[in-house]
Amino acid sequence: MIKINHLLEVRDLKVCYRTYRGILKVLNGVNFTVEKGEKVGIIGESGCGKTTTMKTILRILPSNGMVCGGEILYDGRNILEMGENELNIIRRRKIAMIFQDPTAALNPVFKVGEQFMDILKHSKILEGKKPTEDELKEEILDMFKEVMLPDPERVFDSYPFQLSGGMKQRVCIAMALATAQELLIADEPTTNLDVTIQDQILRLIKDLVDRRNLSVILISHALGAVRGLVDRVYVMYAGNMVEVADVKELFREPKHPYTRGLLASAPKLTGGGISKGIPGRIPDYLNPPNGCRFNPRCDQAMEICREEVPPFFDLGSHKVACWLYKEEDENG
Ligand SMILES: Nc1ncnc2c1ncn2[C@@H]1O[C@H](COP(=O)(O)OP(=O)(O)OP(=O)(O)O)[C@@H](O)[C@H]1O
Ligand SMILES: [Mg+2]
Repeated sequence: MIKINHLLEVRDLKVCYRTYRGILKVLNGVNFTVEKGEKVGIIGESGCGKTTTMKTILRILPSNGMVCGGEILYDGRNILEMGENELNIIRRRKIAMIFQDPTAALNPVFKVGEQFMDILKHSKILEGKKPTEDELKEEILDMFKEVMLPDPERVFDSYPFQLSGGMKQRVCIAMALATAQELLIADEPTTNLDVTIQDQILRLIKDLVDRRNLSVILISHALGAVRGLVDRVYVMYAGNMVEVADVKELFREPKHPYTRGLLASAPKLTGGGISKGIPGRIPDYLNPPNGCRFNPRCDQAMEICREEVPPFFDLGSHKVACWLYKEEDENG
């Protein structure tokens, strides 16, 4: 049998944070995959561990973060065990991340063009090339045009504070695309931007990744955006993926009680007032509940939910980590 690798496969990933209160057990065995050229969305309430998961993939957790278990396979190789050289190639050539806050992603004391030159130069060197400054600049100006930045020359010579939020995010997207050959991680790329340009930025990302045939992980609270941009959606709750399905399926027929609550609490364009949302809140990671972490908030919780973490049950179109679906699992 030929084994085909996923581009990215996260297996049973556990991450904790050391704090003065004690150890926060945030990621509780995260499982997910991304295929070559696939666009995957991740949705879930604030604090459920989305950014922690992405930072672990790039090994950029803050110093109090620790991986306590699991594997992150990229093209079959475990990122968590890579040496500096191999990790550098991943970060500079293969995977790039766009963050929520473009201001924090850019160094305030250097001109935008200088920062970009530096990143692009290292990336080229890893490819075995030795570009001249002029060649680098030309490529950067082309990238700026591609992300539709007005007046690329001026942007090149600006400090970050001289640009608007939307312009800064375009610069970050251009930088990410200059290095990401395979996977782009966009972690709420539009949250900090004006509503009027959120849509433009998301469209731009979609357009650029389609053209390059990149894989994407898009994290967003804007469910409408996720719906329009990705092929498959994972739903995350308190350190676990709890459901995954093709995007249309997921929105048409959410299965996990958490997903149902999450989708029902999203503001509807058609009006109808403010929905009630899901009662309760994300658990305290110092002492998270046993079993399914959603059980204290779930109105269908059974005894087993308080005792055992549910695995993914395979329902064909959906995979759901919820004991309610044990009997429906196709594999038994
Ligand atoms: N450096 C840290 N030290 C301690 N706890 C942290 C640290 N970073 C994150 N956390 C905690 O880990 C949990 C998950 O945070 P994370 O940022 O991964 O969530 P998220 O799903 O990205 O949320 P959001 O949607 O608000 O961005 C939260 O409870 C958060 O407070
Ligand atoms: Mg986050």
